Amino acid sequence: MCGIVGYVGEKDSTNILVGGLKKLEYRGYDSAGLAIMTGSKISLTREVGNLSHLEGAIAKDFPHGKLGIGHTRWATHGRPTKENAHPHTDCKGRISMVHNGIIENFIDLKEGLIERGHVFKSETDTEVIPHLIEELYDGDLYEAVRLAIKKLEGSFAIAVICEDHPGEIIIARKDSPLIVGLGSGEYFIASDIPAVLSHTKDIYIIGDHEMAKVTKGAITVTDFEASPIEKEIMKVAWDEKAAERGGFEDFMLKEIFEQPGAIKETLRGKLKASSGISLDDLDLSKKELAGFNKVVILACGTSYHAGLIAKKAIEKWVKIPVEVDISSEFRYSDPFLDNGALVIAITQSGETADTLAGIREARRKGAKVIGVTNVLGSTITREADSSLYTHAGPEIGVAATKTFVCQIAVLFALALYMAEARGALSLDEILSIQAEMEKIPVWVEEILGDKGHVEEVAKKFASCDDFLFLGRGVGLPVALEGALKLKEISYIHAEGYAAGEMKHGPIALIDEGVPVVVVATVSEVYEKTLGNVQEVKARGAEVIAIASKGNDEVKKVVDHVFYVPEASEIISAILGVIPLQLLSYYIAKARGCNVDQPRNLAKSVTVE
Ligand code: M6R
Repeated sequence: MCGIVGYVGEKDSTNILVGGLKKLEYRGYDSAGLAIMTGSKISLTREVGNLSHLEGAIAKDFPHGKLGIGHTRWATHGRPTKENAHPHTDCKGRISMVHNGIIENFIDLKEGLIERGHVFKSETDTEVIPHLIEELYDGDLYEAVRLAIKKLEGSFAIAVICEDHPGEIIIARKDSPLIVGLGSGEYFIASDIPAVLSHTKDIYIIGDHEMAKVTKGAITVTDFEASPIEKEIMKVAWDEKAAERGGFEDFMLKEIFEQPGAIKETLRGKLKASSGISLDDLDLSKKELAGFNKVVILACGTSYHAGLIAKKAIEKWVKIPVEVDISSEFRYSDPFLDNGALVIAITQSGETADTLAGIREARRKGAKVIGVTNVLGSTITREADSSLYTHAGPEIGVAATKTFVCQIAVLFALALYMAEARGALSLDEILSIQAEMEKIPVWVEEILGDKGHVEEVAKKFASCDDFLFLGRGVGLPVALEGALKLKEISYIHAEGYAAGEMKHGPIALIDEGVPVVVVATVSEVYEKTLGNVQEVKARGAEVIAIASKGNDEVKKVVDHVFYVPEASEIISAILGVIPLQLLSYYIAKARGCNVDQPRNLAKSVTVE
C-alpha cells in the first residue's frame, strides 16, 4: 500500500517523480504529493484524489529541481486530506519525508514529541518520523535517520531529504518494499519495479533492516548498525511496454487479454513432451518432496482461491492431504506443523504482510516453505526456502486476473512434479494431464473470443444490487473468485457459496432480483450442481451458467450460458474463471466504475 519514489541526478526530478508515481498509482490513490529540492530549498505540494490533481497543481507553478521525493497514498491513519498526504515535514519544514508502512508505536512517540515541544500538522502515524529526525539531527542526516528508525516499531520504507543536505536522499526499509534503479550519474528510488522501468533495468533490492545514502554520484548501503553492505545488481527482465496500457481502455482488460501469453510463459520449459515435469527453479529435491506427509497452503484474496484450486489438484494427483488457510488467520492460529509439512505460500506481489508473517511462523515450526510469486526479488523470495515464479509480467490493475491463472498453472505443474516424485501417478497419466495443460493458452484465447456475448449479458445485469455465485468441487473456488472480482470492481454485493450448501440458508435470499451465476463445467458433481440450479430457478432467479462446450442440456435450464472448451474437471477451473473476469469487468464498466483503481483497495497489501 502507498507508493514512494525518489530521484537524484541531473534531470528534471519533478517529471521523473510524477512518471514514477503514475506507475505506482495501483498501490494507493487517495492523495499524492511531492517534495522537490531547488538550491537548498524544499518546495512541497500535496493534493487529495488521484494523480491528475497533483499534476494540475504542478502545472500551475511548481519548481523543477534535480532531486526530490514523491508519494501516492492509501490511507491507514487519518482521512485522505491534504494535511494527511505525504510528504510530511518536521516543525521547521527543513526535513521532508515519504513513508510506506505503519508505525505501530506512533502514539507513544507522538506524545513524547509533543511534550518536548513538537507541533504536529497531520493525523498520520508517519509524521512522528520527521520530528524524530529533527530531534536527533546533529549535522549528519544519515545518522539522524539511522537513530530515528531504531525507535520505530512496525513497517516502513522511507525516503528523507533535508535542506541542509541538498544533494542527498536517505532511504531505509523494514518490512515494506524498496528498490533503487541505477542510472548513469542518477538513481531512481521506488516501492516497486514498474516505477523505474522506463529509466533502467538495473536495480538494487534494498533488504530488510537496510538503509542507504543516495547522491547523484554514489549510493552507500548499510544495515541499521551502519555496517556497509555490498549489493548485487539485479537485471529486470520485464519490458517497459508491459507496464503500459498498450491501446486497451484499462489495465484490467489488457491483463485479461494477456492471459494466454502469460500462461504460456509461466509453463515454458516445465512440460517435457516425453519425460514429465521439469521445475528448474525449485530448490527442493524430488526426494525431499516425496517425504512430506501433508501440504499447507497460505494466501489471501485471489491467491487464496488459487490455493483452493491447487488443493483439489494436489489431493487428486499427489494423494496427500492439503489444508488451505487464509494467511491472516493462519499466522495467529498456533498451527500444527512440523518438518513433515510442506507449506506453499502464494502471493502475486510477494509482499503481502499477512502471508509473509505466515511463512515466518511456518518456518519457525520447522516446515519447509515454497513461495509462489510474480515478482522477482520480492520479499517472499528471500523468506521462503524456495520460490516458483509465475511469469505473468507486471500486473497493474488492482484486481488480480493474469497472475491468478498463472498461479494455478504453476501450482498444477508443482502438483504433477510432486506426483511424479511420490510415484502417485504413472508417467502416462502425467503426460496426458500435461497434454491438456499445453492446450490451456489456446482454450483461453477461444473463451476471450466470446467477449461480445459476455458484454451483452453484463449490461443486462449491471443494475442489480446482489449476486450469488455457486459452484461445487473445483467449481467452488472459481465461484468464490467470480464473486470477489465482481464485488471489488463494481461494488455490487456478491456472495460465493457452495452450491449444495445453499439450501441450508442462503436460498432465503433468492428472488427475481438476485441473479445467480453457477459454475457448471464438466465434473463428477455436475448433475448435483444442475439440481441446485433447478432449486434457484424454481424461486424466480435468473441464472447464468459457465458450462463446458457440447453441453446443450444446460441451455434448456438456465437463462444465459458462457461456454468454455471441454477439459477434465481440474483443468476446467482455469477456464471457468475467464468468463467471470469478463463479466465483472463489463458490469463494472457499465456502472461507470474505475476498474483499475477500485475504491479502498491497494494492489499490494503490506499492512496487517
Ligand atoms: O499479492 P497477493 O497475491 O498476496 O495479494 C493478495 C490479495 O490482496 C489480492 O489477491 C486481492 O484480493 C486482489 N485485489 C484480488 O483481485
